[in-house]
Amino acid sequence: MGMVTIPLEATSPRRSTVDQARAWCQQLEEGNILFFPQTPIALAEDDLRFLLTLEQTGSGLHKNLAYKPQRDEVSGADMKGADAAASERLHRILREYSQRVTEFLDSFLSPYRSRWRLDYGSFRPQEEQGRDLPLRRRNDLMHTDAFPTRPTRGARILRFFNNLHPTKTRDWITGEPFRALAPQFAPQQIALPGEQSTLMRVTMAAACKAGLGRAIPGLKRSPYDGFMMRFHNFLKENADYQAQGKREAWSFPPGSSWMVYTDMVPHAVLAGQYALEQTYLVAPEAMVAPEHSPLAVLQSMTGERLV
Ligand code: SIN
Ligand code: FE
Repeated sequence: MGMVTIPLEATSPRRSTVDQARAWCQQLEEGNILFFPQTPIALAEDDLRFLLTLEQTGSGLHKNLAYKPQRDEVSGADMKGADAAASERLHRILREYSQRVTEFLDSFLSPYRSRWRLDYGSFRPQEEQGRDLPLRRRNDLMHTDAFPTRPTRGARILRFFNNLHPTKTRDWITGEPFRALAPQFAPQQIALPGEQSTLMRVTMAAACKAGLGRAIPGLKRSPYDGFMMRFHNFLKENADYQAQGKREAWSFPPGSSWMVYTDMVPHAVLAGQYALEQTYLVAPEAMVAPEHSPLAVLQSMTGERLV
């Protein structure tokens, strides 16, 4: 696993062919990071300056500031009494970023076009080094991504990042991909999906029958989602893995972009400030190499359908 470096020239829509786009998809699905030393989604100079001067309150309550494209809404912004013009400007910048990344990926990763759901975007204005967050929310511990409130039912979590900091790199470590990692811990240290207690199954089945399925958030999760959430927590809580797991270090320079399947590549951000990010949930049917997906790996380990 590693990093595939893509020069700016190769990101031009005029240069994109279907074969090349499939090859990029394949490299992502194998667990590589696609790295753009010069971002194809550069911000206007004055928008960049504006973002760099935004101050969040220091509470750390809001991990980031989210942009929800479906509702065209910004949440988590606490702009210390900032005026309406500043809020509107922030909103516009996040909306445009999201739209531009999507437009770029529509051609750059054409096999995925129309086969993903646009998920949240985010602006990450806080210094990552030394942030004081509860363990399961820490991003400086290695983990694979899973969203507590947004089960994907097998859809893949693909994320596109920009480092906006004028001088500092954003420093990551990544580990062995899911297909190598999961068998090291499951089923000995963490139960595979489908191994949950009989009581739990009976309760869930009864609740569904009684029409309570929607009222109980956990029920919207497939067995796949349940495992991915537990695995996220398990990795963060596993001191041996954090200390001794195989890892590689990367420094993403100012003005660069990168993208990666964060549900399969364990990652942690050790330092860096001011990043933009857009998340996509890519349909399992769109995979060009489905055998590498966490869903396929878990289904072959359990011999069961998990979504
Ligand atoms: C993460 O997905 O764990 C955070 C990565 C980052 O903010 O650089
Ligand atoms: Fe993450």
